Amino acid sequence: MADKTQAGDRTEANEAQIAVHWKEEQYFQPSKAFIDQANMRDPNIRTRFGEDNFPDCFKDYADMLTWSTPYDKVLDTNNPPFWKWFTGGKLNASYNCIDRHLAQYRNKAAFIFVAEPEEDPPVVLTYQELYIRVNEMAALLRDFCGLKAGDRVTLHLPMTPDLPITMLACARLGVIHSQVFGGFSGHSCGSRIEDSGSRILISTDAYWRSGKLIDHKVNADIAVQTAEEMGQHVDKVLIWQRYPGKYSSPTPMVKGRDFFVNDVLKQYAGKYVEPVPMDSEAPLFLMYSSGTTGKPKGCQHRTGGYLAYVAGTSRYIEDIHPTDTYWCMADIGWITGHSYIVYGPLLLAATSVIYEGTPTYPDVRRPWRIAERLGVNIFHTSPTAVRALRRLGPDEPSKCNYQFKHMTTVGEPIEPSAWRWYYDEVGKGQAVIVDTWWQTENGGFLCSTVPALDAMKPGSAGPALPGIYPIIYDDDGEEVAKGSGRAGNMCIRNPWPGIMQTIWGNDQRFVDTYYKRYCKNPQSKDWRDWPYMSGDGAMQAEDGYFRILGRIDDVINVSGHRLGTKEIESACLTVPEVAEAAVVPVVDEIKGRVPDVYVALSPGDYKAEEVAARVIQACDDAIGKIARPRHVYVVPDMPKTRSGKIMRRVLGAISNGADVGDVTTLANASVVEDIRVVVRDQNAGGKPQG
Ligand code: WTA
Repeated sequence: MADKTQAGDRTEANEAQIAVHWKEEQYFQPSKAFIDQANMRDPNIRTRFGEDNFPDCFKDYADMLTWSTPYDKVLDTNNPPFWKWFTGGKLNASYNCIDRHLAQYRNKAAFIFVAEPEEDPPVVLTYQELYIRVNEMAALLRDFCGLKAGDRVTLHLPMTPDLPITMLACARLGVIHSQVFGGFSGHSCGSRIEDSGSRILISTDAYWRSGKLIDHKVNADIAVQTAEEMGQHVDKVLIWQRYPGKYSSPTPMVKGRDFFVNDVLKQYAGKYVEPVPMDSEAPLFLMYSSGTTGKPKGCQHRTGGYLAYVAGTSRYIEDIHPTDTYWCMADIGWITGHSYIVYGPLLLAATSVIYEGTPTYPDVRRPWRIAERLGVNIFHTSPTAVRALRRLGPDEPSKCNYQFKHMTTVGEPIEPSAWRWYYDEVGKGQAVIVDTWWQTENGGFLCSTVPALDAMKPGSAGPALPGIYPIIYDDDGEEVAKGSGRAGNMCIRNPWPGIMQTIWGNDQRFVDTYYKRYCKNPQSKDWRDWPYMSGDGAMQAEDGYFRILGRIDDVINVSGHRLGTKEIESACLTVPEVAEAAVVPVVDEIKGRVPDVYVALSPGDYKAEEVAARVIQACDDAIGKIARPRHVYVVPDMPKTRSGKIMRRVLGAISNGADVGDVTTLANASVVEDIRVVVRDQNAGGKPQG
């Protein structure tokens, strides 16, 4: 709790009040050309999805699916907060993504696979071909592995079509897939095998990443061993081959346990597997949420509600039409990839691009060459990727002949300067941008502009989606009013079809994590008493747009002022030489916490000390002296996860003289030592920058 009596501190600084100092940005309007072709042009959409029409408004999304048995109730609230959606209905996910499109789109591309080696031409999987492969794989899973509806299977697959083929084959049988991000270690895969109780692991021999053919089979062995040690036995390990018929890993196969998928599949050539009609509430998949301490949380997503929600949001927010070529650069191993590379686009019969490798391989123009070659017109990526592509190749997009109509950003707040580069250079001033805020737990987008209807505002995720009713609470459970300039805990008042069902095997943790804090009455069966707590800090501007400030635990409390790390980072990024910035809290005897700043610079010849001085000035200017960094460290690169997120935890440990822990899963582990040297030298030089 802050000391309110500090001299010169006029800000009320109790736990509920967070200082926010980002200035408001101008609006950008969607073009007429975009509006004219958009899927959602009804200005009354938010009224149609307003509280008076809740929950029936979501029939609109459910109608985008084909049900083998129609549902009889939209929302069942009998056991809060374990909501049930479209109860009584039955459907199959694989049927909805593939079979029902065959009559019209049999020979249209479902996926286009782009291998990392550029000399390998793109591979097209038509809906017909996908249908054949998914059926054969489903037959294998059923007859060779003995899997049936409700069983869990762990997948640890990289970005090749084998991954969605496996997911859809599971879904055809009602088997619950649990894909672990391919970049995760064998250990993390093993603990997820154990948690989900999988007895089958599906992995691959190798895949391309940054010019190297990486041995992945080795992780399968570690995963199985880890799971065994934790008490979960794995019967069979299925190994896809990056080059069918050829084994690309030096790690031996284990006789009687490991099987090549491509060999076994021969027995199932041409087999058809009837899609199993699944209860609307049957779990479709688990997605373990990353990054937190303790046991991983298996977010359990339902079949009917989830599919309805991703279909609806893909149509209205991503503006996907069957004629579009859509490229989401995320990994299918994250929720973004599940919802917006696989399920969403396929439910709408679109063409979805799967790219195997790093976006900057072999050079920073690669994404734009891919866009040009495939005629991509919808593009979807993260602010981290935007910043990296901008840093390394600010003028590259203009050199390729593509034109996006629509672009998405997701995963973190995007600072206005990066947004503007995305808009001007990547979108060539013609594409709309949606800044979509949501989480693994949520199934699909929660906040975003509806692209043809709402103006864009850089740095703001926009208003809530139709049918989503957010509220910001302070720590005392009081509502934080819009336009108040104060931030609080971002919550959603109502259930929606995409929300997870529970944490796999841990209902209590589900209730405690998301609902306990702001529940008004634990006995109540009225959804209005059960707001969902996202764990993100946010504020709402006068115009109703939400600005997401990052995780509540990303907040740095300096002398009782809460400063969003993102807020300081965006101040640093106003210095033109700064390409990337990361802010971490450092323990300080007087102020509680103070920010340390790490910056990586754009290519060029700069004096580190001068840039550091300008960064300090920028923080002073944008936020105030309260946000002045203790140190500004100019580093060669940021420590990053395989998915591109900056590992602030590692920087925080270095700043605080603590153990950096396990850094082996970083994409660039060696940079940690370089950073340590910068920090040590600067501190020894006795030239603190702050
Ligand atoms: C953050 C990714 C700001 C947020 C889909 C959230 C964002 C966490 C945005 C979830 C956005 C996601 N603006 N912050 N547009 N989108 N976040 O579970 O802190 O990997 O809680 O899901 O990312 O990350 P997750």
